Amino acid sequence: MTMLQSRDNGGNNMAKFKPLDMKGTPIDDQFMSWNEMIKEPYDKETTDAYTKTRVILMNGIENNSVITSHAMARLIRDDEVKKQMAIIRRADSQHQETINWLNPASASVLETTVSYEQVAVDLTANLAKNEPDPYFKQVLDFALLEDFDHLYRYSNMMMLLEGKDATMITQNKTDIKPGRPTVVEHRHPVDEMRKHFDKETASLKSKMNNETIVSAEQQTMLFYRSHGYQYGDDLARKLYAEIAEIEEQHVSQYELVGDPNVTFLEKLTLLQLNEAYNYYSCAQTETDPRIKKIWERFCADEITHFNMCAQLLEKVEGRDVMDVLKQDSIEPLIVFEPNKDYVNDVLETQVNLQPYNMEFMDANKLPGGWLSYTYRERVNAGGVPSEDVIARAQSALAAPGGATTGE
Ligand SMILES: [Fe+2]
Ligand SMILES: [Fe+2]
Ligand SMILES: [Fe+2]
Ligand SMILES: [Fe+2]
Repeated sequence: MTMLQSRDNGGNNMAKFKPLDMKGTPIDDQFMSWNEMIKEPYDKETTDAYTKTRVILMNGIENNSVITSHAMARLIRDDEVKKQMAIIRRADSQHQETINWLNPASASVLETTVSYEQVAVDLTANLAKNEPDPYFKQVLDFALLEDFDHLYRYSNMMMLLEGKDATMITQNKTDIKPGRPTVVEHRHPVDEMRKHFDKETASLKSKMNNETIVSAEQQTMLFYRSHGYQYGDDLARKLYAEIAEIEEQHVSQYELVGDPNVTFLEKLTLLQLNEAYNYYSCAQTETDPRIKKIWERFCADEITHFNMCAQLLEKVEGRDVMDVLKQDSIEPLIVFEPNKDYVNDVLETQVNLQPYNMEFMDANKLPGGWLSYTYRERVNAGGVPSEDVIARAQSALAAPGGATTGE
């Protein structure tokens, strides 16, 4: 039995995460040398599409852990808490570099972008399928169709600029076709308001799903923000800006679904637990043995981070960690796998939905004064990159020699 397997021999052990039964790595043994930290990148030609999506997801999970901890450190007075946070944050910071540096330098920004949207589609679908809270599930399904459309727009951009077929990257595990058109995804900021669940009654799975999707969408937003200018092509530059703004909307809607009544320490505990849960999920499903070892090692690190937070909770707030968790296991695990039927089903029934007053309704039923109408008109005035890319790809296809201008 490996350290990561549950000690409970009843039932399906692999599909359940039982953090309280797991052994962590002592914190002093976690810091890595530069040589340990930075490993060989994966081979982009032979690596499974879902190994690439796990790398992208876990990079996002680590970045969120580090960024949130930094933001909180600015607002916390207790030196002991800040000390413990700094130690955990340094270990997570090193994790982030190990993981993001697994991406090969040979992948172009657009190739990586296609994988980012594949993460968004298949992660969101997996979370939605297993989300017990019906409202949160609706929020997930809603944004799923938008990221699904981004995959289609960016795939066409890549074909135009680099002559590469996006199905080589998705390995046909995820469909590439229109979703809710990006042109109608632009909404007034107040239309991204959402209701939040109640931490007292929400399941631990909902809390984990919330931390996971916020991390993933935030990572996507950060990636487009920091790389969208790297193309000389004006349409590509504008397409990245257009879609980065939708990711900003997605981060806004998802972060509001979590209960804002959690204390700082409760939030930190949930974040560290979610890191462990995601690494455990990755380790159980990883097909690349070298990368599986990284997931296993970091999972054991996260168990310690979680236990350190649990001790702080007890010391500072006088609370037992079970008061936060309310359950000692989380199931099922997060799995990257094809979700074509699920996505098609949501597409068929929900493509026309839009948010109004924190609920979703058919676009035909929206009131005339819906604030997003005016906002949309403003941002879409004078041309829409996500529409132009398709028009340009179609005319390139019709031209002699086809769409490719590269390779
Ligand atoms: Fe970490
Ligand atoms: Fe997206
Ligand atoms: Fe998104
Ligand atoms: Fe951590």
